[in-house]
Amino acid sequence: MTDRYAVIGNPIEQSKSPLIHTAFAQVSGQDIEYTKLLAPLGGFAEVVDAFRTSGGRGMNVTAPFKLDAFAYATDLAPSAQMAGAVNAMKFEGGKVYAENFDGVGLVRDLLHNLACPLKGRRVLILGAGGATRGALLPLLAEEPAELMIVNRTLAKAETLATLAQKHQTASVPVQGLGYAALQGQAFDVVLNATSSSLTAELPPLPASVFAPGCLAYDLTYGKGLTPFLKLASESGVTRLADGVGMLAEQAAEAFAWWRGVRPDTTSVIQLLTIPLR
Ligand code: ATR
Repeated sequence: MTDRYAVIGNPIEQSKSPLIHTAFAQVSGQDIEYTKLLAPLGGFAEVVDAFRTSGGRGMNVTAPFKLDAFAYATDLAPSAQMAGAVNAMKFEGGKVYAENFDGVGLVRDLLHNLACPLKGRRVLILGAGGATRGALLPLLAEEPAELMIVNRTLAKAETLATLAQKHQTASVPVQGLGYAALQGQAFDVVLNATSSSLTAELPPLPASVFAPGCLAYDLTYGKGLTPFLKLASESGVTRLADGVGMLAEQAAEAFAWWRGVRPDTTSVIQLLTIPLR
């Protein structure tokens, strides 16, 4: 019998997950069906209950339900606990296992697709929302020389820096600061984990943050040359990336978790890549 999976969100039309997982199933010879589920706001649990009752095996979770999924889960993986949000669930008997693969997807993209090792490098992450929170431990596990979290609202950056210091297994120096602290600082990897690119805004960062040979990475996917990437490009950065690889890699992590087979992401990344211009 074909195993059934779905992505749940509101809205959901835009989701690339069915396309990605169907492609993964083809390349790995897995017999699955993967659909989109629209849940009404406030109606997450009912829709998931019905999907489970009808034999559904697992789900991806997208906005605005990542916190609902956190509350719904019976078994939260450390990645989900640290992120404070869930983006993948697996149903087994009465259990709802929950994970968050966004951070590990980002790090896999950096290391394997972009050949950008993090060990010993200076890493800056912009923003202190859910995207940053999920990325912290996977980034720190790579033992960069330092990790600086910068946010408009200073208190949120400080809170995340404290959380990261407390939970990391390495002993990487982590600071949470405001944008003014970036004057005179340069980094090998600059990650834009703010939501600024969704509204075509530019975080208030000086062009001098990009060290020679730096990688500028916007976690947003499919917006082309965002104001952040444009600033990097105009500052002489030649290594630019958006979140397409992260999207594919987090999906591959979920697929491997569900099916026990990790699909190759190359063709999916090629399919979804929108040129950065
Ligand atoms: P997500 O889950 O995508 O991280 P979020 O939790 O709403 O979304 O967080 C959005 C992040 O983007 C926040 O860190 C926000 O900064 P504030 O905490 O100061 O609001 C940041 N952000 C959004 N628009 C921004 C902009 N134009 N410039 C700089 N930071 C921005």
